[in-house]
Amino acid sequence: MNVLDIINKTKRKIKLSAEEIGALVSGFTDGSIPDYQMASWLMAVCINGLTDDETIALTLAMRDTGEVLDLSCIENTTIDKHSTGGVGDKTSLVIGPIAAACGVCVPKMSGRGLGHTGGTIDKLESISGYDTELPVDRFLSVAKETGFSIISQTEELCPADKKMYALRNSTGTVDSIPLICSSIMSKKLAMNADCILLDVKYGSGAFMKTYEDACKLALLMERVGKAAGKRCRAAVTDMSVPLGNNIGNALEVKEALDILSGRSKGTLYRLCIELAAEMLELAGKGTNEECRTLAAEAVSSGKALDILEKTIALHGGDSRVCRDTSLLPQARFSYEIKAAEDMKITAINSEEIGMTSLMLGAGRVSKDDVIDMSAGIVMNCEVGKRIGEGETIMTLYSTVCSDFTEASQRALSAIEFVKFR
Ligand code: URA
Repeated sequence: MNVLDIINKTKRKIKLSAEEIGALVSGFTDGSIPDYQMASWLMAVCINGLTDDETIALTLAMRDTGEVLDLSCIENTTIDKHSTGGVGDKTSLVIGPIAAACGVCVPKMSGRGLGHTGGTIDKLESISGYDTELPVDRFLSVAKETGFSIISQTEELCPADKKMYALRNSTGTVDSIPLICSSIMSKKLAMNADCILLDVKYGSGAFMKTYEDACKLALLMERVGKAAGKRCRAAVTDMSVPLGNNIGNALEVKEALDILSGRSKGTLYRLCIELAAEMLELAGKGTNEECRTLAAEAVSSGKALDILEKTIALHGGDSRVCRDTSLLPQARFSYEIKAAEDMKITAINSEEIGMTSLMLGAGRVSKDDVIDMSAGIVMNCEVGKRIGEGETIMTLYSTVCSDFTEASQRALSAIEFVKFR
């Protein structure tokens, strides 16, 4: 194989064979192909794209650079769920336990947050003692026992993706639909669940800024999943506004617990029921309508909360948080942003809200930064809501930051509103 030929072919939009793609991926992973040649090929992909067949070959080649999990010890249908990420997205913490309560098994590996988006692993680590790095055999035994477990991604899964993603990040080659698809799907295929539900977000807080691009990515991921023999479905959902009211790790766990304990029945609850129903339908539990009913019952009966409680305990975490959310990390400082006049909210920029949360200490600018688990924002506003003069628009929380001047300015700039009398 000549790497230069491969780069030139993609540069000239000539289709690569699966063998050529396989050789490129394994050569880059084992270090025989240098970064500069891989970066050049990635840029050619960014500009010219790949065919669906090439994307499938790339995904399978990336999957095969590492371990593919053996889930045969789990009798129930296994299902994995992936969100392309966003601001305030705590749906995995809600729908995993719901699906498990309905008789499917959700063993999941998740990531940490970077930049303005949060990560499920950080959220779970806000629960005192929760071990996100259980060895794979213990992870599988928790999943088998409760139907739900989440750990952080192991080094053994898709080493190609780790290396390629780092290179893409530093060479301006992240925003390519076939590269995003192969990066996500190679990890999902290595996880090896029977079914995969993908939640592709679009809008200001998401990777895909437009609905059209999100649909393209969703379709491509479904195609790749099915080509690999999986039952796979991709939902396209809105991330132009933050998901739910709470942003920040412990605050998001609290909101997830509020939903699972039936205290919160708003937009986020409805989205979670919808996504859980998609999972259950994919796993063969009935029609979409029947699955919605099953999902709602899993919450109202308290079964889903019981499962999360048991899972947290088996991970070594303080499961009392499920019944008493005041045991989650609490911020030392808070600041209420109040309306200076009567207003109606017309838009909320998720990305800016995510950046404000980052300023408060809830996220990382670079991957080794330490997170303030208590930090974040509680929104008292949604698009269309009227807020009277002096009422709270949102509250900022932090333990590492006591001066809210800059953060409150940034948070306010994320809100668009009209005055009303
Ligand atoms: N998430 C991933 O895992 N990979 C991408 O390329 C983008 C988002």
